[in-house]
Amino acid sequence: MPDNPASDLSPSDMAKDAAARAAVALVEDGMRLGLGTGSTAVFMVQRLAQRVRAEGLRLRCAATSRATCELAEHLGMKIEELDEIGWLDLTLDGADEIDPDLNLIKGGGGAHLREKIVAAASDRMVVIADPQKVVETLGAFHLPVEVVPFGLETTRVHIQRLLDGQDLSQRPMLLRQRDGAVMRTDEGNVILDLSLDLIHDPATLAAGLAAIPGVVEHGLFLGLCDTALIGSPDGSVIELAREDAA
Ligand code: A5P
Repeated sequence: MPDNPASDLSPSDMAKDAAARAAVALVEDGMRLGLGTGSTAVFMVQRLAQRVRAEGLRLRCAATSRATCELAEHLGMKIEELDEIGWLDLTLDGADEIDPDLNLIKGGGGAHLREKIVAAASDRMVVIADPQKVVETLGAFHLPVEVVPFGLETTRVHIQRLLDGQDLSQRPMLLRQRDGAVMRTDEGNVILDLSLDLIHDPATLAAGLAAIPGVVEHGLFLGLCDTALIGSPDGSVIELAREDAA
């Protein structure tokens, strides 16, 4: 792991690192933090570990995935169970898509279940991303839906009926694979990736998916993100705030 995460980076990674740096600047001594998952969150954890080492920050941190937990511990940080900490002051996490209301699609890394639990247990969720993640309407990125393996095919039928009823795409949903096998989440479930193109009414879709037995969690994060920090390859960062955020 390089000590300077910004050495030798692609433009997209420079943008992610810029956003990560801005997010980590929000962290104050004594905070209880949620640490997100994904390639942008990796920069955030690296930058945070640097600050912890340099400034001796005393933090209590919960991770949204085994991968983030391992990275943070590798960098010398202590990770606790969310329930040991209880409520969090701030969660820093990435996203796959961000719309103008700061609604998100998450779960490209398959961690959206724990990510949503952690975000919902936080006073503030700050999302970090590169400019490619900002969209007018959610849906070009596949929508991940975590499903229990039992009854997978009937759950798939329920989801397809829901999508048909909402005039959403007819393209087949894909059971996510990793390394040539069906991918299991940290909770031992599987993920169906839905190809939807444009989601004009995310709230109705979210409610419909949540009502299907067998669906554990979907990747629509509605009203959870308070601030998005969008980094650029030149190191600048634009801050987007949710209008109704407290
Ligand atoms: C993990 O499941 C996701 O929600 C990630 O936060 C999201 O996919 C963004 O990942 P990248 O930062 O790698 O684009």
